[in-house]
Amino acid sequence: MNWFRTLTLPLEASTLARDIDDLYIFIVWISLFFFVLIAGLLAFFITRYRRKGPNDQTPHITHNMKLEITWTVLPLLICLVVFFWGFNGYVRASVAPGSAMEIQVTAKKWVWQFEYPDGSRTINEIHVPIGKPVRLVMTSEDVIHSFFVPSFRVKHDVVPGRYTEVWFQPTKLGIHQVFCTEYCGKGHSDMLAKVYVDDDATYEKWVQEGDETIKTMPLPQLGKLVYEEKGCSTCHTIDGTPSKGPTWKSIYGRPETMSDNRSMMVDENYIRSSMMDPQKDIVKGFEGIMPTFQGLLREREIKGVIEFIKTLK
Ligand code: CUA
Repeated sequence: MNWFRTLTLPLEASTLARDIDDLYIFIVWISLFFFVLIAGLLAFFITRYRRKGPNDQTPHITHNMKLEITWTVLPLLICLVVFFWGFNGYVRASVAPGSAMEIQVTAKKWVWQFEYPDGSRTINEIHVPIGKPVRLVMTSEDVIHSFFVPSFRVKHDVVPGRYTEVWFQPTKLGIHQVFCTEYCGKGHSDMLAKVYVDDDATYEKWVQEGDETIKTMPLPQLGKLVYEEKGCSTCHTIDGTPSKGPTWKSIYGRPETMSDNRSMMVDENYIRSSMMDPQKDIVKGFEGIMPTFQGLLREREIKGVIEFIKTLK
């Protein structure tokens, strides 16, 4: 029955898809079977029991126990099969496996914003590794939207003021289309996104290098973004105001005294090592409270921070 599948249904690209399609196809064939049976009998009875003359009398029949039990019990059984099959699938589609990677989704007129566990953000595109479960925790900033990926067979409303979720485990490499399926205003039909299902190597590369924004944004601007979004700003000021960590203003290119009275030049390597191994050289007068950013920043983001610090004269 594969031709029927390919003819009537979109690509199956998640672990949920097959079961949902099987049930759908089951219901279609059952409906077709009964349509043909009922319409056929109707046509047959029209000719077979046609009144043939003025004296043609219908025999007086009140009921037929066997027939009535059959046409009650049989549809009941079919309905029960459909119910339990569907319920089973519904539960499976509702509960994400505990190991699922989590991505936060924010819908707003008329874009999809995604945020990864490491804090990196994307707009209208996500990258996920093939074969791993992904859980999307979704909310809206304005009106009701709806997140729909046909080839994954997942769809759920995205509602302001609460969290809804979908999960999927992609099985096919490539780009899968996301639609908004709740009419949300003028830009509704443009509210599209793409799910890139990557092999492990491509996904790793994407995680390392980031999306187009990160690859193309000028370095100082990227550094400022990192400063604001990765928590640097909670301890370092950029205008000279004292805080929990040294201010970044005019720090570049000047010697600093460390807590063990060594003097170190603040250059590219010093800044980099301060981010990756912050306990190594602590500036005199400050506590070693900074966490390491090893593995949390991409190469280009590290360069960005350095270039951003250079601009703070
Ligand atoms: Cu968002 Cu339609």
